[in-house]
Amino acid sequence: MARKILAAGNWKMNKTPSEAAALIEEMKKTCASDTVEVLLCVPAIDIPAAVAAAAGSNIQIGAENVYFEDKGAFTGEIAPDMLLDCGIKYVILGHSERREYFAETSETVNKKMIKCFEKGLIPIMCCGESLEQREQGITIDWIRQQVKVGFLGLTAEQAKQAVIAYEPIWAIGTGKTATSDQAEEVCKAIRELICELYGAEVAEEIRILYGGSVNGGNAAELFAKEDIDGGLVGGASLKPSFGEIVNYK
Ligand code: PGA
Repeated sequence: MARKILAAGNWKMNKTPSEAAALIEEMKKTCASDTVEVLLCVPAIDIPAAVAAAAGSNIQIGAENVYFEDKGAFTGEIAPDMLLDCGIKYVILGHSERREYFAETSETVNKKMIKCFEKGLIPIMCCGESLEQREQGITIDWIRQQVKVGFLGLTAEQAKQAVIAYEPIWAIGTGKTATSDQAEEVCKAIRELICELYGAEVAEEIRILYGGSVNGGNAAELFAKEDIDGGLVGGASLKPSFGEIVNYK
């Protein structure tokens, strides 16, 4: 299997620029790896300090969000060129917290996906069901809809570079991880959908992450699953022990 495991941190609204620089100095030691791709998505204002701190190491810095316009009167937003100018390649899109607290929809996520590829950023598009949806038995239908709308208008060449993060909302920040079988079931269904939309080659190449209470103790079992190509990690990416996830083997 050619897909490289991606261990991606999502710092959310944590760490000041100076705290970020100090933490990354420590993480350079714990997160060294030749085999796993290591990424820390940090608050926008932390990016320059984080990039400077990570320089010369295997740690890449990413963003947690971006806007879908090039520039202009959009107070408070971050443009793709601003991220690119800082050396950013990856950006998280459509995290469930953005959907819940900041009114993001699959339609706005789709606009952002298209803009990212136009500009040369790689999106990590999040999807995930609520506990209620899981109990209603509509998880796969819901995820398929989120992914279908998110990917509308993307070419096969673009789709295969994208990263999808399956994050059941009930598992985020709760300490309640999906079982590796539950996570695999949905990640496999996402890969099957990508195969329907873009064919087998794209489905084989696209990376699908699991997120939701990933830690050093459960990463190995999750990442061993056939359709799980790494993790999007919140709480456990805020400490040097994130290295236990990077070096899960
Ligand atoms: P968590 O967050 O690892 O703290 O559950 C994951 C996420 O929201 O990306």
